[in-house]
Amino acid sequence: MTQNSETNTKKASGATPERQKIFSGIKSTGIPTLGSFLGAISNWEKLSAEYDCLYCVVDLHAITIRQNPKELRDYGRNMLAWLIALGLDPEKNILYYQSQVPAHAELSWILNCYTYMGELGRMTQFKDKSAKNEDNINAGLFTYPVLMAADILLYQANLVPVGDDQRQHIELCRDVAGRFNKIYGDVFTMPEAYVPPVGARIMDLQTPSDKMSKSDENANGCILLSDSPDVIIKKFKRAVTDSDNTVKFAEDKPGISNLLTIYACMTGKKIAHCEAEFADAGYGAFKQAVGEAVAQNLAPYQEKHARLMADIGELDAIAAKGAKKAAEAAEKTLAKVKEAIGFVV
Ligand code: TYM
Repeated sequence: MTQNSETNTKKASGATPERQKIFSGIKSTGIPTLGSFLGAISNWEKLSAEYDCLYCVVDLHAITIRQNPKELRDYGRNMLAWLIALGLDPEKNILYYQSQVPAHAELSWILNCYTYMGELGRMTQFKDKSAKNEDNINAGLFTYPVLMAADILLYQANLVPVGDDQRQHIELCRDVAGRFNKIYGDVFTMPEAYVPPVGARIMDLQTPSDKMSKSDENANGCILLSDSPDVIIKKFKRAVTDSDNTVKFAEDKPGISNLLTIYACMTGKKIAHCEAEFADAGYGAFKQAVGEAVAQNLAPYQEKHARLMADIGELDAIAAKGAKKAAEAAEKTLAKVKEAIGFVV
């Protein structure tokens, strides 16, 4: 709907037109990385002015890999505090823990019955994660994308802002929604992925062919949002580059291209502008500038995060309030699904 037609609807009916919805999630398996910030959370914040948003700490997804109970609880609260510190106002967005809204697991079971083994077996994340966790290839790891589809479809989300690595899962979600709607009518809204043009795939600083990830074995490859300015600058100084000493974005220069992407995201400048800025600089000066830009950018968020973590009671109360609102919305979809399938309701 265009802006004009929305205004007309409002005028004609006197009612406020319904805003489009966003759902996205992040696992509570560690401290968020610069990758999840640039690829996802920074866009959650940008989009939150225009959409009704639910942002979920997906702790049910986290347990597909074995977790220590104390760490899982700490990481969950930490993640919620990061989301708020990074600009998601809990008064304007629904922020909550997935495990506090049982409808996610319930719809996930139902959708399992509309998803094929072949589809799940093709998921690249399942293949990657099972290769890394050979001793724990559990059924949850396999059906993980079905739970993701349930997360999104429960809220009739129109848009799902994610990094590039989640594209395949959103495609599967659309396939499952389409299949369900074909059988039962228009039960689910068809969601679209929102993948940012720059920053959708931030790479590891040590192995720039791999995605930056909180589960990185080499800590120097990954910037955690909690890293101190010294640590951040040191990690950038050690970043793997190449030998031609030209700051240029190119396929055969994955390390430098990654640093340029990070610098562009941090400063809001275009990549070409960043290349020009460092045309006469060596890699040493460029890496120092990227490190400083990241450290400066993160400092205010880190302060806010520390303040939020000082009041766990308040954080838990925010999550409980979010879960209540999410559950109300989720129940509406679940009732529609049960009615359509033929359960006695
Ligand atoms: P997770 O927790 O791995 O990552 C959270 C979000 O951050 C993005 N991201 C990145 N983007 C760019 N570069 C990187 N290096 C990088 N690392 C992470 C991810 O793409 C993601 O958007 N399965 C999801 C969580 C989830 C979800 C959902 C997302 C569960 N249910 C429903 C959307 C909708 C995941 O594991 O994200």
